[in-house]
Amino acid sequence: MANLAVLTSGGDSPGMNAAISTVARCAARKGMKLIGIKRGYNGLLGRSANPEDDYMILTLDTELDIADRPGTFLRTARCLEFLDPREREKGARFLKALDVIGLVVIGGDGSFQGARALCELGIPCVGIPGTIDNDLAYTEATLGYDTAVNVCADVVNAIRATSRSHDRPHVVEVMGRHCGDIALMTAASTGSEIVIVPEVTWDVDGIAAQLNAHLARGNTRATVVVAEGCWDSMRPFDVYAFLKPYGKHVYEGEPMTANRLASVLKRKCGGAEVRSTVVGYTQRGWSPTARDFSFAFEAGYMAVELLSNGEKNEVIGLSNGRTFHMPIDKALSTHRAFNYTLYDMINRM
Ligand code: ADP
Ligand code: F6P
Repeated sequence: MANLAVLTSGGDSPGMNAAISTVARCAARKGMKLIGIKRGYNGLLGRSANPEDDYMILTLDTELDIADRPGTFLRTARCLEFLDPREREKGARFLKALDVIGLVVIGGDGSFQGARALCELGIPCVGIPGTIDNDLAYTEATLGYDTAVNVCADVVNAIRATSRSHDRPHVVEVMGRHCGDIALMTAASTGSEIVIVPEVTWDVDGIAAQLNAHLARGNTRATVVVAEGCWDSMRPFDVYAFLKPYGKHVYEGEPMTANRLASVLKRKCGGAEVRSTVVGYTQRGWSPTARDFSFAFEAGYMAVELLSNGEKNEVIGLSNGRTFHMPIDKALSTHRAFNYTLYDMINRM
């Protein structure tokens, strides 16, 4: 009986459990034993006193009831030790001792770097892009991204109800790390008036001018969707010097935040009662949408097929809505193409 291993790594994303569950079902169908590695690459380092804390055997009995749940049954983590080549060698030895024919890695860009390193150490790996951020260029969507956008769209729509009642513009911050895709798609799918992303340099006065134009047209509930990474692409603005005279709690050198941007916009937009909301971890905690679930299902199936056919060092993605695979090296060297056209459409309306 061949052995196969699976782990989830990095931030959890909706659909990870569906992918684990599919891998378990496919492995069982092929008569393979599936070993679930716990807490990302930590589980490969054999540091726990009890091996059951590092890995577990996944059977249909343990797996069949998790597919629709958000989160990851195997737990996930960031494992900084895995950046050390000696620790990675330890991880490869651990997998060789378990006699696995391969490892399915469900995670984002960083997790794929770990998978590539394991490939170089002789462990066949196949990656499933599990992250809400959509920051992997080779695939048109990562697992969890669609769910995160749907959560954010629901939040914006709910906020708009109260914004409309009170005639208040609103700044809504969404996740995505250095990638503006969640913000862009949230704005596009809610008719939001302004979107700010890390991919495009912006300045506070420009945004204030945009918001003032909307207010002048009678739109008193305009929504500004900001990506959490957008503060890095902001032209210098001394938030302390600007807000301190208004008695705001801000100290010299402190960064811009969604809350402070709302405060600044209020002062630059004729006193409009601009409010702010940070959507936060709710984006990672919802049940996967149909699109994410079906991608998880197809990717889990493809991962087991690839490894059991002796293929290695591949990652799975989506292209024109179809699941495909390509070499991990090629995937990791693909450059991201941000949708500037959509960005312009939103901000120019
Ligand atoms: P994501 O996979 O969502 O991008 P991270 O960037 O935090 O999340 O990476 C997850 C984990 O992948 C890290 O904690 C580490 O264990 C592993 N990892 C990240 N970068 C590398 C690398 N260059 N080499 C080996 N392992 C890496
Ligand atoms: O990578 C997914 C993500 O949710 C990012 O959007 C966010 O910046 C980060 O993880 C948050 O990480 P943590 O869970 O460690 O706070």
